[in-house]
Amino acid sequence: MVHSVPLLSENKTLEKRIDDIVSQLTPAVPLHILNLQKLTEKSKEFKRLFRGTVMYAVKCNPSKEVIKTIAKAGIKTFDAASIEEVRNVRKWVPTAKIHFMHTVKSREAIREAYFEHGVRVFVLDTADELRKIVHETNLAPDLDLYVRLALPKNKDASADFSAKFGASPEQASFLLREARLVSSRLGIMFHPGSQSKNADVFRKGIAVAAEVIKKAGVKLESIDVGGGFPIQYPQQNLAPLSDYITTIHKAIDDYGLSGLDLYCEPGRALVAEAGKLIVRVELRKNDALYLNDGVYGGLVEAAKYQGAFTYPMRVIRKQNHEGDNDTIMSYRFCGPTCDSVDMMPGPFFLPADIAEGDWIEVSLTGAYSFSCRTNFNGFGKYQTIIL
Ligand SMILES: Cc1ncc(COP(=O)(O)O)c(C=O)c1O
Repeated sequence: MVHSVPLLSENKTLEKRIDDIVSQLTPAVPLHILNLQKLTEKSKEFKRLFRGTVMYAVKCNPSKEVIKTIAKAGIKTFDAASIEEVRNVRKWVPTAKIHFMHTVKSREAIREAYFEHGVRVFVLDTADELRKIVHETNLAPDLDLYVRLALPKNKDASADFSAKFGASPEQASFLLREARLVSSRLGIMFHPGSQSKNADVFRKGIAVAAEVIKKAGVKLESIDVGGGFPIQYPQQNLAPLSDYITTIHKAIDDYGLSGLDLYCEPGRALVAEAGKLIVRVELRKNDALYLNDGVYGGLVEAAKYQGAFTYPMRVIRKQNHEGDNDTIMSYRFCGPTCDSVDMMPGPFFLPADIAEGDWIEVSLTGAYSFSCRTNFNGFGKYQTIIL
């Protein structure tokens, strides 16, 4: 179907800069553009609004420039999920405080994190993991442990983690009592689900945590309300970040938890806006655009969260070509690999005359895009430009 609606447009100077970059590089492989100024602004905004400690969830974009920029903007605590993330953060920000926030860690990873990288903060959601941590750190006297709580399913999140991670409220109370015996500091944490579209999930999470703490009957030092803060994808009319944070602050006070050290660990909301991805159309078959990037590359979320959100996009014409940017139609995307899973139904709205050789600028791809790249089928090559 072809119809006319205005295309999303953003800051013209930035658009012009990106057009120039693309026309100079004529990128044949996917091009990631990282805007460090945007990242600095977002990090400072988070720090200014949140009254506790903001941690950065490294997994969503583990690149050196991102880690260093965030640290320079004043966020010095990092949530690492693997020993490789621990090593990199320690190397790039030697004074960083690192929280090892994966509930299932290998014994080798626990040992290396504790003895070689000074990590003292570990999370767990089972008694087995607690035993592993205590054993591999030789019953260390300075452990700072968190029990991860599973929340009821969050239908307003793009990715709900509670089926995979977290202890039930009863189990969490038991684990808090057990962990208290072997930790110098103790906390509780939850993650309400990525891209949570309703601030109330944080209030509900804090309510459950307060109940669990009461049942446990032991003293805690901290609470971590996770990531899950959303960004504004097109057609999602969400409350601003400040509303989410106000909801958290109020709930912490209402449930009598203001004596605890407060943490959050955003990923997406910190870095998504700082990234753009430039992909190229290699072939067009009616409404199907065959791109040089897809599900196994930087567009994994375009398939994973199909229907939940889409990205702002615009076309950058191949050299010496003008087009009609006002008449648009809906497309589906096909990634470059031979796997039939590598398809993104969209709908993605782009000019009706888009053709082979044109590029598509996909915005809001700073998180879970670069970090999810694979080499599958030999399509792993990409370029990066730092603005
Ligand atoms: C433990 C933990 N913390 C933080 C995050 C970051 O979440 P988001 O990107 O939704 O803010 C994740 C994402 O998977 C996570 O697993």
